[in-house]
Amino acid sequence: MSGAAPGTPAPRWDAERYLRFEAERTLPCRDLARRIDLAGPKRVVDLGCGPGNSTAVLAARWPGAHLTGVDSSEEMLAKARASDVRAEWITADVSRWTPDSSFDLVFSNAVLHWLPDHRDLLPRLAGWAAPGGALAFQVPARTHPPPPWMRALARMAAAEPWRSVAPADASESNVLSLAEYYDVLCDVARRVDLWDTEYDHVLEGPEAVVEWIRGTALRPWLARLPDPDVQARFLAELSREIAREYPRRRDGNLVFPFLRRFVIAYR
Ligand SMILES: C[S@@+](CC[C@H](N)C(=O)[O-])C[C@H]1O[C@@H](n2cnc3c(N)ncnc32)[C@H](O)[C@@H]1O
Repeated sequence: MSGAAPGTPAPRWDAERYLRFEAERTLPCRDLARRIDLAGPKRVVDLGCGPGNSTAVLAARWPGAHLTGVDSSEEMLAKARASDVRAEWITADVSRWTPDSSFDLVFSNAVLHWLPDHRDLLPRLAGWAAPGGALAFQVPARTHPPPPWMRALARMAAAEPWRSVAPADASESNVLSLAEYYDVLCDVARRVDLWDTEYDHVLEGPEAVVEWIRGTALRPWLARLPDPDVQARFLAELSREIAREYPRRRDGNLVFPFLRRFVIAYR
């Protein structure tokens, strides 16, 4: 198998695949929205709004708010526009976008781990929140030791034929510790709330774990495996590796723990 060419296509987002676990993926978003201590924010932006599932949570929490959803993926935004969420939808890369005016709430669920340099990024995003407003975000957190699915993937990345196509570790490594987030935000916020929550999802088997990460963390891998047969071989081998990591429970299901990190910076 040839090594990853410099021109490897950017990994695309597949809205249908992402929404296959919509209930599980939206739960942390609901938990974050519930914890935000703002009385009726009027202007709310959802950074990396995806197919609009997180924006729908914001619409339900604050029905009177003017919502703006920003995402860099046209495919995701097409799904968001077709949803019944009433919002202004903007195609933009959050790391380059600058809003015209401030917001009462700058919200982002399951997005910022894809963006580098959180020490620069977060004060900038917090600056988009007006005085009295807030920046609130949730990102997957890397555990120490890493979660079992990551161990399985690391084993595959360590040996051929997959080593030469393994992408650089692209996402969770951007995520800081809770204490580091405090340091980054305490100068621009009057209060910072921070916490981790582990979600333990019950999934049907190793294929479901593969399906879960296929909608997110596997995207950079699959962008490097354009041949469908090679891709199928990779996914089958990954299922076997993942089966070694997650023992089946008594009814045949498995329990898939997922640690998530939450931060709310009040301005
Ligand atoms: C895991 S989905 C999260 C979707 C939704 N916020 C949710 O809570 O389920 C990540 C989304 O972030 C978007 N995204 C990733 N990097 C981005 C960037 N630099 N600028 C804007 N959107 C980005 C992707 O297109 C994708 O829709």
